[in-house]
Amino acid sequence: MSPRESEPLTREALERFAHTPDARLKQVMQSLVRHLHDFARDVQLTEAEWVQAIGFLTETGQTCTPSRQEFILLSDVLGLSMQTVVLNQARPAGCTESTVLGPFHVREAPLYENGADIANGAAGRPCTVRGQVRSVDGRPLAGALLDVWQADADGEYDVQKPGLAQAQARGKLHADADGRFEFRTIVAESYPIPTDGPVGRLLAATRRSSWRPAHLHFWIEAEGHETLVTHVFRRGDPHIATDPVFGVRQSLMADWREQPDGTTLLEYDFVLNPTVPNPPLREEPA
Ligand code: BEZ
Ligand code: FE
Repeated sequence: MSPRESEPLTREALERFAHTPDARLKQVMQSLVRHLHDFARDVQLTEAEWVQAIGFLTETGQTCTPSRQEFILLSDVLGLSMQTVVLNQARPAGCTESTVLGPFHVREAPLYENGADIANGAAGRPCTVRGQVRSVDGRPLAGALLDVWQADADGEYDVQKPGLAQAQARGKLHADADGRFEFRTIVAESYPIPTDGPVGRLLAATRRSSWRPAHLHFWIEAEGHETLVTHVFRRGDPHIATDPVFGVRQSLMADWREQPDGTTLLEYDFVLNPTVPNPPLREEPA
């Protein structure tokens, strides 16, 4: 079928969605049809390739388990997850940038005291992490909740280790009254995203790297502020330019600095976007 012969089909498919009562659903479905049909015409999709694509998506679904989400991984390596993060990041200048959540966040991480060791036996070089959580006007965010998670020296998250009963290199803690936080953990190392499924095969077939640059994940909540989901990346990591999920931002890079006592220190501050106007800095006397 020539492109011209195929276009009435696109128009007809668009028309079938024209009576969708939900305006947003109609917009999304019609745009999806338009782009899918354009794509098929652009690459002159063959029937064998269509069958192969359906097989790939079927296997992607079959690879999903309660602890593994291959569809999110597919979205990640296509840059769709990060594109969605970027599109929804309308924040004032000075706020910390977001990046992808990734598949290894756990809602029920253990709560620690500020200053605690969250490594809990994870393999790796000892590291102290500290900083401050502030609002965009510089006000410290007292009691902000930080949820932190990272891979160990073997490049694995605790949830990837079968039979491991406790959380490792993962935990929540509250910043102090001055928005300051500190915890001990291990040095973040680079690691490959899961490659034993269809997404891994896609990366191999397209000669793409599966290695994420070393990073530490943060999910930060503070009253009256937009929740921040981000990572801090290790500056100089050899995988920075080829992150398979496109998550790196220049502003999110930091130095893990060797200390005289042989440990490592990471210092990084976070700036959150207020969802309600900040109260005045000081109460004026009546
Ligand atoms: C992660 O950083 O944990 C991650 C993000 C996207 C895909 C796989 C892993
Ligand atoms: Fe990660």
